[in-house]
This record gives sequence, C-alpha cells and structure tokens, in this order.
Amino acid sequence: MAAKEYQQHFVSSSADSTRMFKANWMEALSKVHFSVPLIIYLPIMAWCLWRAQGSFLSQTGLFLGGLFIWSFTEYTLHRFVFHWVPPGNLGKRLHFIWHGVHHDYPNDKLRLVMPPSVSVPLAIIFYTGFRVLIGEPAVYPFFAGFLLGYLCYDMMHFAMHHLRWNHPFWLRIKQHHMLHHYQQHDRGYGVSNPFWDYVFNTTFNLTQKSSKTLHFEQFVNQLRMNNRLLERVRKYTAPNEVRAMGMYPYFRVIESEQDTEVIIDGRPVLMFGSNSYLGLTNHPKIKEAAIEATTRYGTGCAGSRFLNGTLRIHIELEEILADYLKQEAVLLYSTGFQSNLGGIAPLAGRHDTILIDERVHASIIDATRLSFAKVLKFKHNDMEDLEKQIMRPEADSLKYIIVDGIFSMEGDIANLPEIVRVAEKHNGVVVVDDAHAIGVIGEMGIGTGSHFGLQDKVDIQTGTFSKSLASLGGFVAASYDVIDYLKHTSRALIF
Ligand SMILES: Cc1ncc(COP(=O)(O)O)c(C=O)c1O
Repeated sequence: MAAKEYQQHFVSSSADSTRMFKANWMEALSKVHFSVPLIIYLPIMAWCLWRAQGSFLSQTGLFLGGLFIWSFTEYTLHRFVFHWVPPGNLGKRLHFIWHGVHHDYPNDKLRLVMPPSVSVPLAIIFYTGFRVLIGEPAVYPFFAGFLLGYLCYDMMHFAMHHLRWNHPFWLRIKQHHMLHHYQQHDRGYGVSNPFWDYVFNTTFNLTQKSSKTLHFEQFVNQLRMNNRLLERVRKYTAPNEVRAMGMYPYFRVIESEQDTEVIIDGRPVLMFGSNSYLGLTNHPKIKEAAIEATTRYGTGCAGSRFLNGTLRIHIELEEILADYLKQEAVLLYSTGFQSNLGGIAPLAGRHDTILIDERVHASIIDATRLSFAKVLKFKHNDMEDLEKQIMRPEADSLKYIIVDGIFSMEGDIANLPEIVRVAEKHNGVVVVDDAHAIGVIGEMGIGTGSHFGLQDKVDIQTGTFSKSLASLGGFVAASYDVIDYLKHTSRALIF
C-alpha cells in the first residue's frame, strides 16, 4: 500500500483490536499468544538439528545460511506480501486481516504473530522448497537456522511492541520498526534487522535536516522518558484486574438523557447513581433558560471572572443565591470542586488550623493541601474527637471546622448543632460543603444549616450546581467581607 494511503489509517493505542470475524470460533482462532510459535517450532528445530549430519563446520555453515535466508525472506514477505493490498474490497479485507490490523492496533498482543493455520502451511512450503533445492541431509541444519531466524523475528517483534528495553543497540533496532509504524510504512521492512533495507534502499533518512523523521538521540531520549512513564503507570494494575473479572463499573456510556431510567448499550436500565435529586436535569424551563443564556452571551466567558469574564448573569445569580441561602454574599466558581479549592485554601494561612471530618469530599482534602495551614482530622461525625483535636493547636490559631453537610459517600448528616457548639467554645469558623444538601434538606432546600435551624451559624457554605440544581458550577456563600477577600485572593477564580 502506498505510504500516503497507509498514513491515513488511524493508529489505535488500545490493547484490544477490533473484532475481525463474525463467527466466534474464527475470531478466537485469529488471536494468538506470542509463545505459540515457540511451542510449535522449537521442537521442529530440535528435530532438524538431531537429523543433521556431516562435519561441524558444514553444519554450522548451513545453519548460518538458513538464518541469512530467513532474514531475506522476512524482508521480502513483509515488503511484498504483508504490505501488498490486492484490488477490490475483498483484497482490502484480506490485507487488513493479515497485516493491516497490526498497523491499526500495534498494541494488541494477541494479533502480533501468525496463527498456526497460516504459519504451518507456509513452513511446509518452505521446507519442501529447500529440500528440493539442497536435498537431504543439508536441509536439516539449514531449516533449523531458518526457523531460528523466524522465532527471533517473532520474539523481537513482540519485544519491540511490548517490552521496555533501554540498551542503545536494542533501541536502534526498535527505532527502525517504530519509524515504519508511525512515520513511513513504505520504508523499514526489516523487522529483526535493517540490513536488507540498506541493500534495497528502503531505509530511513535520519540525517537529512529536512527529513521529518526523528534523529536517533532525540528518539532514544523520548523513548527512555516514555519507558519510565509507562513503567510507572502500568504498575497501577487495579483497573485491568477488575476489567479481567468482567466487573468494571466505571465510565459506562449513557446514550439517553439523565433520568430515573437511562439507556446503556441500547438497553433501558434503572439509574440508582444519579445526583439529580430534584429530577431537574431535563426540565423544559431549565433547558430553555440554558439555551436563552447561550443565545444571549455565547458559549464561554473568554477570560477569568477577575479580568474580562464576569457577565451580567453571574452577578444576577450571585445575588439571587445569596438571598436564597440567607447569606450576605456569594461567589460563583466553575465547579463545586473548584469552589472548595478556591474558597478554603486562600483563607487558611500558615498559623491557622483546619479540622476536617475524616470522610470529607476529596475537594476539601485537596483544598487543605493547597493551604499553608496545619491540618487535623477528626473521626467521622465524632464530636468527642473533634473536641479533642481542637484543643491541640495554639489557642490563638484561627481554626476552621470543615464538614460535608450530607456526606457524599455515607449519606449521613453532619452533627451541626454539636459542631456549632464546639466552634463557639473555641472560636472556630464553621465551613459546610452542602453539595448534597442543597435542594434536599432545610427550608426550601437551602441546606444543612437551615435543616438544624442554624443557618446563621454557618460561616461559609459551599455547594455545586451539578446535583440538585441540574447544571454545572459551584459557589461559596459567606459574609460580604469574606467573599470580597476571596474575589481578590482565590487563585481558582482569578486565573
Ligand atoms: C461533597 C461534594 N463536594 C463537592 C463536589 C464537587 O462538585 P462538582 O461536581 O460540581 O465539582 C462533590 C461532587 O461530587 C461533592 O460530593
């Protein structure tokens, strides 16, 4: 296939290639573990060596001859057979089956070596041909060498795609094959060695300045860096282990609107994981309002709120929300996660202390990491422990007690009356993340503070629009002064 045509092909990094056959048994047969050629051909090689006769020198010569002829065969097969696309759709399909699939999905381990249904007839043809040409017993050491070449090719090919060897010699060979895969499909046909590419002038020009191909040093450095990165990320095997058990529950694609029933894989299923507590995600009025806002203001803010991104509707929403939450002021953020990062971190300085329930949301934990304050955890909803922990810092340290109003994983409610009591006793600041409480508990759904009749004791209330409020974004609600301070110090908002 012409290089240009080949390059239009996509290259997937998926470890699994596309299905090739409708029939399950054909599909299963088309997937071959890389060790299969070893299992088949090592015994045949041993048998050939056992049958070999003659002087050590002549046998070694024949063996090396077989190895050499293999390398030529490898080049010729790859260049003229694997890369040949017969005309018509059937031709294209055949080409895809025997080689195209490997170019499209080079990371599929099970479509790297030829299936025995192809390699065994080929081996018989070669063996018979050599036997006719050089006769017995010369064919035995010769064919053993030929098979060794084939096995080395298969194993090196596997290693190139799946093992991370760093030796420069190996990397040079690997570079040749990777350039064939990722830059020029009509060059670099020698896989186990580039010798015949030099002979037939199909190698890559790595020295020409104008060449698009990478220079060797650059390539090696990139590969080394990649190897270290890959080694690190591949150590994290938990997702693949769960996938292998057929129990992977994440990133399921929903093909319908979010509702109590959704479509997954074309089938209706009941939705138990939704945070759309009021079922407003599909409300016609909310959709209409979103469309109207888009028509009026466009699809983005074109800058940070701090500089040029504050729109009229931001201010309107902040005012309406402050009224609704019975707080002095509100500041909007682009997600609930950001509102915790941006609303907590700038407030807690070097001499301050943050006390968090051990089960608070990840965004609060990350906020504490971004702050310079000392962080203390207390046992989940354990007020005795809170009281114990709050005694630890210096008396004049400013103390923040931060909890989820309704805990995101457990679903239980923070013991706000006790938290307020402890805070008052120790001059603490009460911060409540009401992501799961807004729209659910309290008067008109304004959250945990209201639920306990303590809304005026919640110094800082954070929340999200991504749950009951059927949208995206988050907010921090607090006194006018706190919000004004955040407006000028909160990095998550300003930048
Ligand atoms: C308690 C809590 N806080 C904050 C957030 C973050 O909200 P958002 O999805 O808007 O980033 C969540 C979301 O899961 C949450 O459960």
